[in-house]
Amino acid sequence: MKVVNVGLIGLGTVGTGTLRILQRNSQEITGRTGREITVTRVAVGDLNKQRDADLEGIVLSGDPMDIARDPAIDIVVEMIGGDDIAKEVVLEAIRHKKHVVTANKALIAVHGNEIFALAEKHNVAVTFEAAVAGGIPVIKAIREGLSANRIEWLAGIINGTCNYILTRMEQDGLGFAEVLSDAQALGYAEADPEFDVEGIDAAHKLTILASIAFGIPLQFDKLHIQGISEITIEDIEYAKELGFRIKHLGIARSSDAGIELRVHPAMVPVDRLIAGVNGVMNATLVQSDAVGPTLYYGAGAGAEPTGSAVVADIVDVVRSMGDIGENSGASPVPQLGFLPGSMPDRQIVPIEDVETAYYLRMKVINRPGVLAAITKIFGDSDISIATILQKSHGANNTEVTIIMLTQIALESNLNQAVTHIRKIDSVTSEIQSIRLENLA
Ligand code: HSE
Repeated sequence: MKVVNVGLIGLGTVGTGTLRILQRNSQEITGRTGREITVTRVAVGDLNKQRDADLEGIVLSGDPMDIARDPAIDIVVEMIGGDDIAKEVVLEAIRHKKHVVTANKALIAVHGNEIFALAEKHNVAVTFEAAVAGGIPVIKAIREGLSANRIEWLAGIINGTCNYILTRMEQDGLGFAEVLSDAQALGYAEADPEFDVEGIDAAHKLTILASIAFGIPLQFDKLHIQGISEITIEDIEYAKELGFRIKHLGIARSSDAGIELRVHPAMVPVDRLIAGVNGVMNATLVQSDAVGPTLYYGAGAGAEPTGSAVVADIVDVVRSMGDIGENSGASPVPQLGFLPGSMPDRQIVPIEDVETAYYLRMKVINRPGVLAAITKIFGDSDISIATILQKSHGANNTEVTIIMLTQIALESNLNQAVTHIRKIDSVTSEIQSIRLENLA
C-alpha cells in the first residue's frame, strides 16, 4: 500500500487534535482512502515544550519552511494561524507542489484569492474546512451538497466566544465583561479576544462562506463588521420580553442590489431553531432555492472537532491524489466551489442600502409630547413602527425607557431618524439600535 507523508505545521490545540485523530482512527482512515497516511514531520515554535501527543517516529523541526520544502512530504497542514508567516509557508509549500490543508480563516479570507491562483498554477489543492465553524462540515455542505441550488442567503452563528458570552449573559444575568473573562479562562477566545468580540473572526469566516455560496471573490475588506461589546443585559431582557433572542450573526444575502455581507448582533425570533443554539456551539442556516432551508450545527472550536475537519480535508486530498507521482493533481471540485471567473461580478451592497427591521432603546424624560416627537421623526424618515414598549423609572416615573421595533426600513433612513431623535432635549441616553432578522 502506498504511503502518504504528511507534515504538520503547528502543534497547539488543533495540531494536537489532528495528530491524535490520525493516529487513533488510522484503520478507518486507511479504509476510506486506500492509503496509509503517516505524519512524518512536525514543525513547532518551541522544540523543548512538553506536548500532550505521541511523537514517536516523528521528526520535529523548529522551522516551518523545512516542511514546506521537504521533497518527501505530500501534504502540508498549516495550523499556526495569523496571516503573515502562515502565508509565506503556504505559498512556499505550493511552489514545491505540495497539497495544503489549513485551519486558518484569516489566511484564506484575506489572501485566499492569491493562494488559490498559485495553487491552480501548480495543480495542487488548498483545502480549508476547519477554517469555518470548526468541526461542522459546512463548507463541504455548501460547496458540494448544495451544488444544485441557487443560494439566496445564509446566516451563521460562527463565533463560539460571542455565542457563549450572549448565552451566559441571558442565562445568568451577568454583564459582558464578566463573561468575557470566563470565556478566556475556558480557552474559547482567540489570543486577542477583540477578534472574537468585535466580530473580526466571524467576518473572516463569513467572507469564506459567501464566496462559496455565491461564487464571488473573497473580499474581507467589504464586510460590515460589528461585535457584541455594546450589548447590555437590558437589551437581552427586553428582547426576551418581545419574543426574541440576541445572537451574533454573519449574514450573506443575495438581492437585486448585489450581495449583502454583514456581521453584527441581531434579534432573532425565539422559535427559530438557530435561536436555540447556545453556549460555544456554532450553526449556519442556509436558504437555497431548490432544497429550501438547511441548518448545520455542531462544535465550532476545540482540538478534536477542528481536528476532525482538518483530517477530513486530508482524506479528500488523498482521495484526489490517485497514484502518487502519476496523477497527483488537485481535486476536480474547485476550491471555492465555482470555476474562477465563471460567475458574474456582484456589487457588495453598502450597509446604508441594506433593508431590515430594527430594535431601538432609549431613555427619555417623562413629559407630554416626547413620544409624539419621536414617532413624527420616524414617519418623516419613512419608517413604520411595529411595536412600542414603555417602562417607567424614578420615584415619580420621571424617566421612561422606550423600546421600539420597526417594520423593515432602509438603514440610511434609520440612521437619519436616530440623528434627529438624539437632538430632542428630552432624550437622555444614547440610542441603542440592533437589527432584527426574521430568518424566515
Ligand atoms: N475563537 C473562535 C470562536 C474559535 O470563538 O469561535 C474558532 O475559530
